[in-house]
Amino acid sequence: QDSVYREKGRPQVHFSAQRGWLNDPNGLLYEDGEYHLYFQHNPYGWPWGNMHWGHAVSTDLLHWKQLKEAIYPVIKEGVTDDAAFSGTAVVDPENTAGFRKNGVDPIIAVYTSTGRGECLQLSYDKGRTFTDYEGNPVLKHQGEGRDPKVFWYDLDKHWVMVVWDAGMPKKLSNGDQAMVREHSIYTSPDLKRWTYQSGVAGFFECPDLFELPVEGKSGVKKWVMYDASGKYVVGDFDGKKFNIEQHLTRYEHGGGYFYAAQTFNNAPNGRRVQIGWGRDITHPGMPFNQAMLFPTALTLRMTTDGYRLCPTPVNEINSLHKNSKVLENRVVTAGENVSLPVNPDTPLHVIAEFERGDAPIVFRMLGYEMRFDNEWIFSTTPLQGSDQRDTQPVMYAPKSDLFKIEVIADKNILEFFINDGELYYVVPFNGKKTGKIEAVASRDVSRKFIVKRLEVHELNP
Ligand code: FRU
Repeated sequence: QDSVYREKGRPQVHFSAQRGWLNDPNGLLYEDGEYHLYFQHNPYGWPWGNMHWGHAVSTDLLHWKQLKEAIYPVIKEGVTDDAAFSGTAVVDPENTAGFRKNGVDPIIAVYTSTGRGECLQLSYDKGRTFTDYEGNPVLKHQGEGRDPKVFWYDLDKHWVMVVWDAGMPKKLSNGDQAMVREHSIYTSPDLKRWTYQSGVAGFFECPDLFELPVEGKSGVKKWVMYDASGKYVVGDFDGKKFNIEQHLTRYEHGGGYFYAAQTFNNAPNGRRVQIGWGRDITHPGMPFNQAMLFPTALTLRMTTDGYRLCPTPVNEINSLHKNSKVLENRVVTAGENVSLPVNPDTPLHVIAEFERGDAPIVFRMLGYEMRFDNEWIFSTTPLQGSDQRDTQPVMYAPKSDLFKIEVIADKNILEFFINDGELYYVVPFNGKKTGKIEAVASRDVSRKFIVKRLEVHELNP
């Protein structure tokens, strides 16, 4: 990677723009050997505004090369104000839209042009540059809606668009008319003509909808629909309507630092790869503002609490490991600790496996503390600009006797994956860092737990 990416305050294994503000990932698509990461970008400044689609490509989800802006606001007759808001990218190998030219199927971006509605833009040069489709807009969301997610539904040979409609007029059961906020489902034979089919209420911004195999139940698959905040429902989808089996749950438990995630269309080997935005995790003094979170692979697991959508870091991360250290089978009794020294300025990948004894476990990652008792996981954040610390219960503790904590640490970002993604927690950490990963048994009880394994890997960006 070039030197512009090596500034002192820049995350090294999380994508950030060379300069300017970034928010949602957009148009995530694998095509022709490349992962495309488009993103909400202000190319001119540090705060949100002037939304364009920035663009980066990668062959391994780890090393990104930022290219020129891909989609610009469209100012033309009748449109005086525009911004390129979030959306999807697809390819159309069956040429349903008739966009094939000289044997080339374009990459088609479907996004919200704030001045017009849901619009298409076409790229015939591998997603580098786009031109506006002359028939735009192809849809006009209801109310202040936005963020179309589009994919091909092969069983019925039609396109599906899920878009957030903030004011869908609906008749309620008592006969009244109401404006409903929902993720609306539209279908189209050709990406140009869209028909409203149904909607799922209770969501806010940035829809996604996809099918996943249920782990350990061979042949069983379920559909998941989610929104920007990480709320999701699980059920069945027949190409037009989502039938909810499990109502709204949440798969990330932090304070809103994980936001507006999207999954790749057409990722190889059926993998469902997701990238989220590390919202409001700031990187002071840098020419850019905000960064993406680490790419994860999603699985759907049946647990005692019902279905859980489980993100874990994509296994490509293992190819970055260097200077690995491991310790195994250590009993930790009250007041004691087990630790491994680390370089706090290097991005790290840490995997810890515990056998719960009868002592609450304190796990310190560079000084950032998580405490596990039988019911809750508490997280301790240094309060900005003071020595005080804020300890809060953040999520239910795993109920299993054996449990696993996986962490990715990079400039100002900590991502925790507990029990292979059953719990996911993202938090900013720009406090003072210690050069240690520690597991401590709290002093107040004469009890113990076991560190089955503690692995610490530096990540070589
Ligand atoms: C979510 C969001 C989207 C919108 C985009 C604008 O973070 O508000 O709904 O398309 O950001 O930048």
